[in-house]
Amino acid sequence: MSDMSTLTRQADFPGLLTREGAPWHYLDTAATAQKPQVVIDAMARALGADYATVHRGVYARSAEMTLAFEAARRRVATFIGGAEDEVVFVRGATEAINLVAQTWGLTNLKAGDRILLSVLEHHSNIVPWQLLQDRTGVEIDVCPLTDDGRIDLDAAERMLTPAHKLVALAHVSNVLGSMLDVRRAADLAHGVGAKLLVDGCQAAPRLPVDVAALDCDFYVFSGHKLYGPTGIGVLWARKDILDSMPPWHGGGSMIDRVTFARTTYAPPPQRFEAGTPAIAEAVALHAAIDYVEAVGLKAAHAHEMALVERTREELRRRNDIRLFGPEDSAGIVSFAMDGVHPHDLGTILDEEGVAIRAGHHCAQPLMDHLGVPATARVSFGLYNDETDVDALLRGIARTKKIFG
Ligand SMILES: Cc1ncc(COP(=O)(O)O)c(C=O)c1O
Repeated sequence: MSDMSTLTRQADFPGLLTREGAPWHYLDTAATAQKPQVVIDAMARALGADYATVHRGVYARSAEMTLAFEAARRRVATFIGGAEDEVVFVRGATEAINLVAQTWGLTNLKAGDRILLSVLEHHSNIVPWQLLQDRTGVEIDVCPLTDDGRIDLDAAERMLTPAHKLVALAHVSNVLGSMLDVRRAADLAHGVGAKLLVDGCQAAPRLPVDVAALDCDFYVFSGHKLYGPTGIGVLWARKDILDSMPPWHGGGSMIDRVTFARTTYAPPPQRFEAGTPAIAEAVALHAAIDYVEAVGLKAAHAHEMALVERTREELRRRNDIRLFGPEDSAGIVSFAMDGVHPHDLGTILDEEGVAIRAGHHCAQPLMDHLGVPATARVSFGLYNDETDVDALLRGIARTKKIFG
């Protein structure tokens, strides 16, 4: 177990206090992370004293903002071990996956081809492929889970055929916290000639990520789960793949030359960034990555695993709780309490100053698999510590009293 004191100063995060200034036990980081003050300051500066457009202005402020925007892209690239021209700024993971489906997917997949997903995927790694299915007739296969809630790569190995052109899997499950062996998934996908897309939404804030070592083809994540702002996310794709992809949205910034007779397009990543981008958000994402790396993702991972271990241990002692997912979860614990709907639990915990998520977590096929309509989900971040687990346990005990 790692040292369970906080990794970060809770005072760095103004969002961790209630409006009355009392501590707030925020256990919903998998939905979105609270922001450190340095990110809020970076955003305010970018929208204030530093604000100007990028890529077009001939005046100094715009040139400086362009440098800051492109520095953010380089920062993302070093953060995940990619190259800067492989980093496309998008609104979030959802947009990134839709972009891949509607460009690479529409160009490369046809009726008879197959895509392999898994039971635990977030809707944003299911529905874009179903939309593609409607347009192309591509078939979707669903990889089952192991008994403890991991994507079953032995089953994937048996299921994959040369007809599979894409495997798209979550690096860390947003419901169960289970971690994927991405390297093995990449080997399996490549073994049949398929590409691997990794949904890194929950992994990028929780684990060190190196896309070169993972050997994936696409990696996507959202800024707001990485202690940065909403409205910005990342699609990383291998250079040769990005180069081969046609544009998606048309408009300013993504072109080389426009005439009514014929328009040519800019090379990636600009080809996929039509319109004025999320300028301040990119700059603030840069600050968020600096913050997270200063804490260290190895330390973050060990810390969150230790909080999970204690939470699971304590919940297991009760005889009224069913725990889902594997023991070694990356900072996320889902459970169900006998006789108490997760929403009721969430409401009572809220009265105790504890914020958890209750619902299907945008993973309805996984809920069907678990045989529940919803789960209660606790998810940890850099700023959580034992006091948050204590508050959760107190709230659960009180809920039990209320519901008898
Ligand atoms: C695993 C996973 N994938 C994708 C998403 C979608 O992210 P966003 O809503 O930021 O686009 C989420 C968000 O909850 C997620 O947890």
